[in-house]
Amino acid sequence: MSQLLITGGAGFIGSHTCLVLLQEGHDLIVLDDYSNSSPVALERVVALAGLQASGERSKERLQLIQGDIRDITCLEKVFIDARNAGKPIEAVIHFAGLKAVGESVREPLRYWDVNLTGSRCLLAAMNTHGCRTLVFSSSATLYGYPKDEPIPESAPIQPINPYGHSKAAVEQLLHDLASSAPNQWRIACLRYFNPVGAHPSGKIGEDPLGTPNNLFPFVSQVAVGRRKSLQVFGGDWPTSDGTGVRDYIHVMDLAEGHRAALDCMLAEPAQLLTLNLGSGQGASVLEVVRAFERASGRPVPYDVVARRNGDAAITVADPAMAFQRLGWQTQSGLDEICRDGWAWQSANPTGYSDQE
Ligand code: NAD
Ligand code: WQD
Repeated sequence: MSQLLITGGAGFIGSHTCLVLLQEGHDLIVLDDYSNSSPVALERVVALAGLQASGERSKERLQLIQGDIRDITCLEKVFIDARNAGKPIEAVIHFAGLKAVGESVREPLRYWDVNLTGSRCLLAAMNTHGCRTLVFSSSATLYGYPKDEPIPESAPIQPINPYGHSKAAVEQLLHDLASSAPNQWRIACLRYFNPVGAHPSGKIGEDPLGTPNNLFPFVSQVAVGRRKSLQVFGGDWPTSDGTGVRDYIHVMDLAEGHRAALDCMLAEPAQLLTLNLGSGQGASVLEVVRAFERASGRPVPYDVVARRNGDAAITVADPAMAFQRLGWQTQSGLDEICRDGWAWQSANPTGYSDQE
C-alpha cells in the first residue's frame, strides 16, 4: 500500500475519497487550507475508517497539514518530511481548488491563482521530489455547451467561464508536462459530471458555505426546512419536462472512481489518461425534486423562474472509456443518491457546524 498526498482532502469529494483510500489500506497526508471545508469532516472520516481505536497509529495512517498549495515552502517540506520518515509520497490526488462558477466570473484572478498557480506549484514540487503519479480533479465544465449527448472525452474543450478556463489550462499544463518526459508521468485527469449525495452513514457530506449554487444541496436545504423554496431555472428547455438535464453521480461512486484510477496509474506504464466520470444517465431538475421528496418524505416547493445565464439544456457523460480502462461504472442511481443525501442533511441540518 502507498503513502499518498491528498490536496483538498477535507472537502466534499476529498473527504469521501480519503475514507475509501484508508479502507483500501493506503496511508494519507491531507494538505488543506480549510478555505471551503472543516477539519470536522476528517475527524469523522477517521471514525468511519475505524482508526480512532488505534491511537498513535491513526496519526500514521492520516496526517493532517493545514497549508496552501501555492506555498512552495510548505509543499517542499511535505515531500521532504515524508521521505525522511521513510515513507516517501508515491502519488498525489489533487482536489484542492476553487469551484464556484459565478464567483469565478467575479474574481478571475483568485481562480487562476488558486487553480492554475496552485497546480503549477504542486507539480513543480512533485517533479523535484521524483513523485510523478497524479490523479487530477477536472470537470465536465470544460465541454461548455456540448453538441453531442452523451459527451465523449473527444468532444471539443470550450469552457465558457473563468473556472472552466482555469481547469482547461491545468489539463493543458499536464499534457505539456507528460509530453516533456513521456516515460515518467502517470497522470489521470478525471472529468467529473455532477457529484452529489453523501456517505450512507450520513456522517460526511456536502457542506456549502452560504447559499448553495448547485441544485442538490439547495433541494436538500429546502427539504430540511433551512430554505423556503427552490427556484427552477427555466421550464422551457428542449427536454422531456422543460427543465435542465444533468448526469448526477453519487459521491461514493466518484470516490471509487479515484481508487480505480489510482490503481491503474500505479500499475500501468507512464501515460496521460483523460476520463469522464459520470453515470451516462440524465435526470431533469423536476426528477431530482421528486426523487428527493420520496427519499425524505418532505415536500420541496418550487417556482419555475427564468433560465440561469451560462446553463446548457442537457449535459450527460459517455462513461464508456472509464469502464473500458478502469472497469469502473456507477453503482447508485438517483434514489440511492437522494436517500444518502437526506441521511446527511437530516442528521446535520447546518452541516459540520452542528454539535455532535
Ligand atoms: P470542495 O471545495 O469541497 O473541496 C476543495 C478543497 O480544497 C476544500 O477542502 C478547500 O478548503 C481546499 N482548498 C481550496 N483552496 C486551497 C488552497 N489554496 N490550498 C489548499 N487547499 C485548498 O470542492 P469539491 O466539490 O470537493 O471539489 C474538489 C475538486 O473537484 C475541485 O478541484 C473542483 O474544482 C473539482 N470538481 C468539483 C465538482 C463538483 O461539482 N463538486 C465537479 C467537477 C470538478
Ligand atoms: C444543475 C441543474 C440548473 C440550482 C455545476 C458547475 C460545473 C460542475 C458541477 C464543478 C441545472 C438547475 C440549479 C438551482 C436550478 N462543478 N438549478 N435551481 O450547473 O450542471 O454544474 O456543478 O466543476 O462546473 O457548473 O450544476 O447543480 O448548479 O445545476 O434549477 O437553484 O439544476 O439550471 O439545470 P451544473 P447545478
